[in-house]
Amino acid sequence: MFGFGKNKISTDSYKGVRDFYPEDQSIQNYIFDIMKKTVESWGYEEYNASILEPLDLYKLKTSEEIINEQIYSFKDRGDRSVALRPEMTPTVARMVAKRMQELSFPIRWYSIPNLFRYEKPQRGRLREHWQLNVDIFGVSEFNADVEVIQIASQIMKNFGSKPEDFQIKINSRSLMDDLFKKIGIPDSNKSELLRLIDKKEKISEDNFRNSIKDLIGEDKTTSLFENLYYGEGIFSMLGTLESAKYIRNVIQTLRDRGVSNIVFSGTLTRGFDYYTGVVFEVFDTNPENPRSLFGGGRYDNLIELFSNRKVPAFGFGMGDVTIKDFLTTHNLLPSKKSTTDLYICIAPETNIEEVYNIASNFREQNLNVVVDISGKKLAEQLKSLDKRNIPFVTTIGSAELENGKFAIRNTKTRQEFLGNVLENIEFIRSNNQ
Ligand code: HAM
Repeated sequence: MFGFGKNKISTDSYKGVRDFYPEDQSIQNYIFDIMKKTVESWGYEEYNASILEPLDLYKLKTSEEIINEQIYSFKDRGDRSVALRPEMTPTVARMVAKRMQELSFPIRWYSIPNLFRYEKPQRGRLREHWQLNVDIFGVSEFNADVEVIQIASQIMKNFGSKPEDFQIKINSRSLMDDLFKKIGIPDSNKSELLRLIDKKEKISEDNFRNSIKDLIGEDKTTSLFENLYYGEGIFSMLGTLESAKYIRNVIQTLRDRGVSNIVFSGTLTRGFDYYTGVVFEVFDTNPENPRSLFGGGRYDNLIELFSNRKVPAFGFGMGDVTIKDFLTTHNLLPSKKSTTDLYICIAPETNIEEVYNIASNFREQNLNVVVDISGKKLAEQLKSLDKRNIPFVTTIGSAELENGKFAIRNTKTRQEFLGNVLENIEFIRSNNQ
């Protein structure tokens, strides 16, 4: 039987996933709250789906790394292959394709799903994370890219960060295509080459160069490297091409709108096969946390895998783990605020039913109230409030019940107010921030 004998069940959670104790959940709620408020202020609507998807959904366009090494999948009792979703983009593409006829484009959607990837757990990488997905469907021109990247920047600002705290790196898959063509790199090498460039930060400079040399040869590697590290200078060479004009417009419009920390990066490619145009990634500039925080891009050919119509799309995924690390590093997490407004301590020999009636009066006015039913001494009841950050406390005994008045104390300022229920509700309302 559980709980008896020597072999207790472990209290550890499954490897790479997190338990959210109230203090953790409160941070998570804060992060989601800023994300939701920001994207809703731009008119994005929330959608959701099941954690479970048919495994086939990911076979065509999700990255090879995810399919071969990271996907959680199993056979159900009906012998169907099922996956725990590793990302939301195939799901949302499927949903858009399914309602194609009814939807009036452009549509702006967001969601904060939990996703599962079998990774080696480490800083910034876990096996379950939540990811804000912000996507716009039905706009092929550059204003969609600008809008979504501007939203990403706005979320960062709404978390309290300054432009110098992070950098937005941007590149374009179609610009890369044109560059590869110009250098004479065959189409058959393209996906592999993009994958190698994407791995650049994870391997040494020598390794990086050699692996590319093995794929495309010495000469082409030399010209590729000259271009990859040329920064925006690449535009002067490819400037007449549509792909170059497009990304220049995106960058310039973002700068004009005040997104000053956007930089072109020839080595940013992103891992997924479905990206077709502009790709971007946001990096922390603090040397203590020099990581990619989140990213996304244009994927114009994904929805046509499900339907006959082509629907252009642009979006990004922002993970809760990397954002929390960023906010911690930059000291931007607010101190925990309780969701409870008032804590009622009970003096000895008080009629508890009457105290509960008083608590109900507060709750009817949308205030959140805890009644201490521990039966402990008053001093201990008050002590239990330590660290809980509940803004108001009161003690109710027979005398208070008799004359209908009791003193409310602001636990931060120590200010006290004596009043009846209605007056006390008013006091809390006007002093609660
Ligand atoms: P992704 O780059 O794989 O893109 O993930 C986006 C973000 O999710 C990452 O930058 C990171 O913040 C977070 N993330 C990913 N994997 C993990 C993990 N194992 N542990 C913690 N955080 C993680 C996508 O998933 C694309 N589907 C995003 C997208 C949406 N593109 C267009 N629309």
